[in-house]
Parts: sequence; structure tokens; C-alpha cells
Amino acid sequence: MEEPINGWARRNNGVTLTKSYQMEKRAFIKTTLLAAGALLMPRKSRALEFYPTEKNGEWAILYGTWCGSSRDASIWISEGMNGIANVFDVRENPDLSGYKHLIVGGSIRSGVTSMELQDYLTKHKTLLAQKIRGYFAVCGNMRQPVTEEQYHNFFNNHLCKLTGVESGAQRVFLGRVTFGLMEPDVRKQMQSMPGMEEYDNLKRAECMAFGREFLEKRGS
Ligand SMILES: Cc1cc2nc3c(=O)[nH]c(=O)nc-3n(C[C@H](O)[C@H](O)[C@H](O)COP(=O)(O)O)c2cc1C
Repeated sequence: MEEPINGWARRNNGVTLTKSYQMEKRAFIKTTLLAAGALLMPRKSRALEFYPTEKNGEWAILYGTWCGSSRDASIWISEGMNGIANVFDVRENPDLSGYKHLIVGGSIRSGVTSMELQDYLTKHKTLLAQKIRGYFAVCGNMRQPVTEEQYHNFFNNHLCKLTGVESGAQRVFLGRVTFGLMEPDVRKQMQSMPGMEEYDNLKRAECMAFGREFLEKRGS
């Protein structure tokens, strides 16, 4: 039998409130308020942390992805840079003002990168202009080898137009299709395409080689 509050049972809508009930209620309210407070606080974006042997803090890679190809490409590009570049998903709306050098890239749907990436590049055009050192894109290209056409379409005609920066290294990677990671309607649409099957053409070695080019340029 629990001890009633103040030595005698208080009645609340016919329910006897004991001390432990009151404590639980208080803890519940406190937790709820803390959770609500956390939701109201601006979300601080966190880079995928690497623990490189050489700390640098000057390089960042910003990517837009749907199912993760460009996330993995970004990580592997950073690995090619000995891990010195921090990697950011554009959906986290990162603050890149503290970085000196930036590599921007994203996956392709219907010929363009994600709306989130496009919006971010447009919104932060002035800030990013001095920092952009390179671009990459990840596409299916009907599983055919990449040609000049993709470079023209994804960079000259798309990303460079958004940023206003035409200089810098560029690389198109072949990506992958994983039905289980797609939005249900997109999955249905993809699965109904004749001959469409899951594939994985993204190569870590190619992404790393691209990353290494940046290291070589800065003379490491
Ligand atoms: C709905 C949809 C549209 C796509 N459109 C194109 C396209 O226009 N050109 C292309 O080369 N690849 C296209 N792809 C292939 C993707 O670029 C490729 O699968 C990429 O790796 C997906 O990246 P993600 O893992 O970030 O989703 C498309 C894929 C999907 C699912």
C-alpha cells in the first residue's frame, strides 16, 4: 500500500493520488517539456566525423541524395583525401561558412540533382562562390559508360549555373539502384520499367581517386 500524499489520500476525480504517482507525473511532464524544447531548438547539423591523422578543418563535401549513392561517393572522396573533408547531407542545412574549400555533388533524377541541393546552392550562392573547388554527380546513365554529354548536362548546364562557378574539378560516377530504399511510388514506377533491375556501379576506387586529386593540387 503506497503512502498517500500529506499523510492522507487526496482524491482527484475519484483517483487516490499517492506520492509515487505524483513523482511519476512530474517526471513525465518534465521529460515532455524537455523533448518539446529540444524540438523547438534549431537543429545543429553534424558532419560525418572522420578522425584523420592530419586535422585540417578546411574542407567540406556537400551532397544531395535520395537513396545514399552520393553519400557514399562523398565519404569515399573524403577517404581519398585521407579523411580531411567533413561530409554534409544538404538536408541538414549545414552552416559551411567556416570552411575554406568545398566539393559539391549529388545524385541525378530526371537529369538534375535533388531540389534540396538546388535550393541550398541558390540560397547560399554568394557564400559558396569563393569556396567551390569541384563538382561530382552520381547517375545511372542506363548503365552505359559516362560520356562528355553527362559532364555537359550535369555541370555546365546544371550545377555550375546554380552556383555561378565554372572552374574546378568535375567527375561523373555511375551509381546504383536499390528498390527497397526508394519511396513506394518511385519504387513501383522503377520496378514497372522493362528490364529495370537493381544494380551497383558505384566504385570506391574511382571516388577515392577523385578525392586524391584535390590533395595533390594542394601539394600534399
Ligand atoms: C526516379 C529516378 C530517376 C532517375 N533519373 C535519372 C536520370 O535522369 N539520369 C540518369 O543518368 N540516372 C537517373 N537515375 C539513376 C540514379 O541517378 C542512380 O540510381 C543514382 O545512383 C541514385 O542516387 P541515390 O542513391 O542518391 O538515389 C534515376 C533514378 C531514379 C530512381
